[in-house]
Amino acid sequence: MTLHCRDEGAGEAVVLLHAFPLHSGMWDDQVAALRARYRVITPDLPGFGKSDGPDDPTACSIDGFADGVADLLDELGIDRAVVGGLSMGGYTTFSFLRRHRHRVNALILADTRAAADSPEVAARRVAQQEQIAAEGAGPVIDAMVTTLLSEGTRTNRPDIVERARSLMSDNSPAALVGALDAMRHRADATDLLAGIDVPTLVVVGAEDAPSPPTVAAEMAETIPDGRLVQLRGAGHLSNLEEPEFFNRALTRFLDWQRAS
Ligand code: MLT
Repeated sequence: MTLHCRDEGAGEAVVLLHAFPLHSGMWDDQVAALRARYRVITPDLPGFGKSDGPDDPTACSIDGFADGVADLLDELGIDRAVVGGLSMGGYTTFSFLRRHRHRVNALILADTRAAADSPEVAARRVAQQEQIAAEGAGPVIDAMVTTLLSEGTRTNRPDIVERARSLMSDNSPAALVGALDAMRHRADATDLLAGIDVPTLVVVGAEDAPSPPTVAAEMAETIPDGRLVQLRGAGHLSNLEEPEFFNRALTRFLDWQRAS
């Protein structure tokens, strides 16, 4: 199954993996900022955006997402890349690192966590799947818009609220159900952190509720060459909420790791 992706620019390849329940369009501002100097690959993970998903959504797995990204890189003739993702994209990045380590030049971990789901989060995912089956994706998307954006964004930036909602609404209910299953069953990646031997940027919105700054700080401290950037005013979707500051952190890191 070939993943759909946007592939722009030239130079060192940078792969950016999207969050749940959005799609690759969430990276438009980052593509615009990087494409003059990097080859930016933004795939739609299976079932999202323009990528097909498996017929049985419960066949989705984060490891399968990571292997799909590796197959995509093969097709594009890319051997190694900077690989990064936000939240679910970060879970996929950890799996990519475990399964395809030799292809990773550097890592970007945005608003994500290495730990597997707690029993409470796993139970919430099952409840969300049941709600989607009963009522469609609308109510789950409404709740996620609230959870994933900071209060400041929700109050003062209706354009960003609408953009987030529209990115979520583009996806089929089956994509959401499949990814909820994939996230619920994903492996814990905490064991990887201390052994990461590539430069790693950890970015977090200061008001990220699902993956708070304390989690990001602990991750950055455990990763030997990890550096942390916290974005004031941003919630969980920090690249959408504070694109200028997110892009500044990203370009500084990318330019630095390329030069070193
Ligand atoms: C995401 O942004 O990808 C989700 O919040 C991840 C999750 O639900 O764990």
